[in-house]
Amino acid sequence: MISIQNVKKKYSNGGKSFYALDGVSLEIAEGEFIAITGKSGSGKSTLLNMIGTLDRVSAGSVFVDGNNISKFSGKRIAEYRNKTVGFVFQSFYLEPSYTVYDNVELPLLLAGKTGKRNRAAIENALREVGLLGKIKEKARNLSGGEQQRVAIARAIVNDPAYVLADEPCGNLDTANSENIMRILDSLHRAGKTIIMVTHDPEDALKAERIVTMSDGKIVGDVKNVRENATA
Ligand SMILES: Nc1ncnc2c1ncn2[C@@H]1O[C@H](COP(=O)(O)OP(=O)(O)OP(=O)(O)O)[C@@H](O)[C@H]1O
Ligand SMILES: [Mg+2]
Repeated sequence: MISIQNVKKKYSNGGKSFYALDGVSLEIAEGEFIAITGKSGSGKSTLLNMIGTLDRVSAGSVFVDGNNISKFSGKRIAEYRNKTVGFVFQSFYLEPSYTVYDNVELPLLLAGKTGKRNRAAIENALREVGLLGKIKEKARNLSGGEQQRVAIARAIVNDPAYVLADEPCGNLDTANSENIMRILDSLHRAGKTIIMVTHDPEDALKAERIVTMSDGKIVGDVKNVRENATA
């Protein structure tokens, strides 16, 4: 369970300051599939980065499973990022010269797990995204859609409770986007909590809940999206 409590993020640019997050409160239950939407600059990535500890709050708190992660430092942040959350970004961030196997293994190595015992976890993660057949391929030889699927495998190889995705389909065509959305949906059905930032209304409709942001604030929060859509 994630509890975001009156979070503010202040940025200063040349003496002027403004709030990229301006008092955001949000509760995300375990197992939810939530889409965060809103115009460019509304604070979506900033909010996701707070949950991922990629950025620090200026005020307020973020609790994850009862821990105030905004108070975490050094070692605990590293451990949290490695084990509790998995990240998927718009631009994949694979190591192009590494094989698919080696890319997916990275979080395991960071967790201190080495050697042949990693193979089963890597194969399971790749099976989940339908890419077991490419395990020996260099990442640079994969299509964009395949690279994003490897990035998802890498995000889930340590079995994190939360998958954080920032515009995961932003660089993909329609067919590949649908594939990525199907994978996120299947992870959700397997019990993971999915938090996805998207500006695409169709992708947002694949989530159970849509939170809309504007000027650093939450201006909409619709639950049971799919039930409402079919009603
Ligand atoms: N490091 C930074 N320094 C100064 N301003 C920043 C910084 N990061 C973000 N901002 C500003 O904060 C606001 C929110 O940015 P954010 O990246 O969260 O928007 P977003 O909703 O994700 O937009 P997009 O859809 O374009 O990705 C924007 O006005 C942005 O320019
Ligand atoms: Mg963004």
